[in-house]
Amino acid sequence: MQDISKLSAFLENEISTFDFPSQPANLYDPLRYFLTLGGKRMRPILTMLGAELFDVSGKNAVHAAIAIEIFHNFSLIHDDIMDEAPLRRKQPTVHTKWNTNIAILSGDVLLVKAYQEICKQEAKVLPRLLEIFNRTAIEVCEGQQLDMDFETRNNVSIAEYIEMIRLKTSVLLGCALEMGAVVAEAKKEDQELIYTFGENIGVAFQIQDDILDLYADPEKFGKQVGGDVLANKKTLLLLKAYELANPAEIEELNQLKIQSNQSLKIDSTRNLFDKLGIREAARAMMDEHYVIALQALEQINVSESNKKPLKDLADMLLHREI
Ligand code: IPE
Ligand code: IPE
Ligand code: MG
Ligand code: MG
Ligand code: MG
Repeated sequence: MQDISKLSAFLENEISTFDFPSQPANLYDPLRYFLTLGGKRMRPILTMLGAELFDVSGKNAVHAAIAIEIFHNFSLIHDDIMDEAPLRRKQPTVHTKWNTNIAILSGDVLLVKAYQEICKQEAKVLPRLLEIFNRTAIEVCEGQQLDMDFETRNNVSIAEYIEMIRLKTSVLLGCALEMGAVVAEAKKEDQELIYTFGENIGVAFQIQDDILDLYADPEKFGKQVGGDVLANKKTLLLLKAYELANPAEIEELNQLKIQSNQSLKIDSTRNLFDKLGIREAARAMMDEHYVIALQALEQINVSESNKKPLKDLADMLLHREI
C-alpha cells in the first residue's frame, strides 16, 4: 500500500472514526470540527511510509501515525491563538469560532489523545517511540517560543531562523518517519538517516510555508495571506530582504514594520520583496535542504522502488500551493 493517495484516504477514514463524547460540548465540538477540516495528513503518511521503506506494512504503524497527526492538530490550535490567525483550512480557527480558553483546553485534550493513540503500538517498541515522541514534543514547544521571541527581536540571523524552524516544524517530520522505521525495527543508523531526511525536508517545507504565507492564492490557501507580515514574523523572506536591501530599502522595511494599514503593509512588503528577488533566494535555500535530505535517503540500503513514495511525497510538498 505505497500509493500516497490511498494512504491519505485510509488515514482520513481512521481519523473520521474518532469518537468524542458529546459533553461537555464546548470541549469536544471544537475537536470534531477541527479534525474533520482536512489538512494534508502528510505527517501520518510519513510514518506509514517510514515503515514501508523497510518492507513492513504501514498499517503496523497506524497508531503512531495517528498520534503524530493528532499532536500536529493540537499544535495548530494553539499556534493559531499565538499567531492570532483567523483562518485555518479555509474555516475559522477554533479560538475565533469559540474562544481562546476553549481553544487552549480542547488543544490540551488533543495532546493527551495523541498519547492514548501512541500507547496502542506494540509494547516492545513503545519505550523507544515514546522517547522520540517526547523529545520531539518538547522541541516543538522550544521552536514555537523562539518564533514568538523573534517577533520582537531585531537582529535574528538566518542560522537562528533555521534552528527555530528546525525545532518548530522539522523535528516532527523527522519524528514521524523515525517512528515508522522503529516500528519496522530498522537498523539504528537507518533510523537516524530517515530522521535526517525528514528534518531537512521539514526545513524546506517550512520555508515553502513562509513563501506561501505571502504569495499563495487566497482562494486556495486556506489561511490568511500575509499573516506573517502582519505579525512581524522573522521569516526567511524578511531576513533575506534585510540581507539584500540597500540603506533606503532597509529604512522602508523598518517603516513597514510599524505600518498600521494592514493591506498596505502586506502589499508594500510583497512589492519590495519582489524587487529584491526574495522568493527566488528563499527557493534556493529550500533546494539546499532538499539536496541534503536526498543524500541521507540515498545512504539507506533499500531498493529504489521502496524509496520512490517518499521522494514523490517530498516533491509534492515542496511544490504545493496549500
Ligand atoms: C502547517 O502544517 C504548520 C506548519 C508546520 C507549517 P501543514 O501545512 O501540514 O498543515 P495541514 O495539516 O496540511 O493543515
Ligand atoms: C507553525 O508554524 C508550526 C507549528 C504549529 C508547531 P506557522 O505558524 O508558520 O504555521 P501556520 O502557517 O500557522 O500553519
Ligand atoms: Mg501560525
Ligand atoms: Mg506560528
Ligand atoms: Mg506559516
